[in-house]
Amino acid sequence: MSGPILSVRGIERSFGGIRAVRGVSFDVQKGEILGLIGPNGSGKSTLFNCILGQLSPDAGDVSINGRKVSRMRASDLNKLGVGRTFQQLSVFPKMSVIDNVILAGQEHHGTMLSRLFGPSDAGLAEDADRMISFFRLTHLRDQLAGSLSYGQQKLVDAAMAFMAGPSLVLLDEPAGGVNLTMLASLKERLVAYNAEHGTTFVVIEHNMEFVMSLCTRVIVLAEGAIIAEGTPDEIRSNQTVIDAYLGG
Ligand SMILES: Nc1ncnc2c1ncn2[C@@H]1O[C@H](COP(=O)(O)OP(=O)(O)OP(=O)(O)O)[C@@H](O)[C@H]1O
Ligand SMILES: [Mg+2]
Repeated sequence: MSGPILSVRGIERSFGGIRAVRGVSFDVQKGEILGLIGPNGSGKSTLFNCILGQLSPDAGDVSINGRKVSRMRASDLNKLGVGRTFQQLSVFPKMSVIDNVILAGQEHHGTMLSRLFGPSDAGLAEDADRMISFFRLTHLRDQLAGSLSYGQQKLVDAAMAFMAGPSLVLLDEPAGGVNLTMLASLKERLVAYNAEHGTTFVVIEHNMEFVMSLCTRVIVLAEGAIIAEGTPDEIRSNQTVIDAYLGG
């Protein structure tokens, strides 16, 4: 199949009187790293939540590989190879790094019954160790996740999202609150993952340097609608985009 991996059509979502997302449509091609930017409150996270079944849109459709998934539960989307990270950290602070990553893997494997009575998690533990190593966290493997720096926890979060071997991952502010060293490491690892696995990313981020150097294409939201779309260079010099940020 050569169509888009993700197709979003006419998504609308209001909260009371607030029209958070107003008829957003776009496609994402396989292997792309697409940036989704926009001022605070422009509807980015709401759009992600509508795409991923955490919120049901008031109108519109979402297709993955040409198959309509609108109103599908997040857990079923996982099985279709779609992963995500949240704006807020979703690691369990009182569990070790390795246990967090194994647990994320378990969520993608079979039913509760097969987990309780099935074979041991040896394979999963190996996968988790490989993922931890990929994100260069092996030295922190047995530490409590809550004892890590914020940036390191963001890397654990990413490792968790990738445990399902997704073909599409939506990342909501992966670099938010992350220091410069960890930022460079996160970007380099995402690029490497994309190159090795052909995984498609859609990345919400406020850090322009990060977005512009990571993404091949950027979509800009303002007040719930797409106001611009193009390469990082086109977006950087787009007057409508500059005005949206300055006026926001
Ligand atoms: N659960 C909710 N209930 C009510 N209003 C909401 C809810 N979620 C979002 N909103 C409102 O919808 C609008 C879009 O919010 P959203 O979180 O999608 O923006 P965002 O682009 O992700 O912002 P940020 O960059 O600050 O994360 C805002 O006006 C916000 O206050
Ligand atoms: Mg947000």
